[in-house]
Amino acid sequence: ASTSEPAPEESKQTPSPTCVGDSVTCPEGARLQAKVEGRYVTIIRLDGKLACIDAICFHAGGPLGIGDIEDVNGRKCIVCPWHFYKIDVESGDKYYQTMEFKEGKMQAGEWKSNGVRQRTHKTWEEGGKIYVQLSTYERRPSHADYVESDGYAFDEKCGDRCLN
Ligand code: FES
Repeated sequence: ASTSEPAPEESKQTPSPTCVGDSVTCPEGARLQAKVEGRYVTIIRLDGKLACIDAICFHAGGPLGIGDIEDVNGRKCIVCPWHFYKIDVESGDKYYQTMEFKEGKMQAGEWKSNGVRQRTHKTWEEGGKIYVQLSTYERRPSHADYVESDGYAFDEKCGDRCLN
């Protein structure tokens, strides 16, 4: 039997690119909200670079995709409007600020990562169009591939808050 053709289940493992809009609709600082293969994602252009991240917050299903952008340790973060978690738009890391006991008082210390909590996806431009390639097709990735935002990624109730 030929081994050149992947089995249907295998070919599903590699998501194909999806066009999500024209480049002109996403200038510097702007974003596109899209539903790709049922998954809600946000595409954002910052400092000329595109990034794509799950639009629904891993924490409690908040509309992360519409959050403000802030700089944390030189990294661009999207701030969830619900509980103000700061998520790195390129890596999906969730940051927290440490507390330090100094001069008899608790004071805010440095920012650190809790690890990747929000899934990110590949995005690029070609011929005046913006494309997204999901980092997984799976609705329930296996334990090793699971990212916490997978749990909300397809939720219509939450996702519609990001699209509108
Ligand atoms: Fe709580 Fe986003 S839902 S920080």
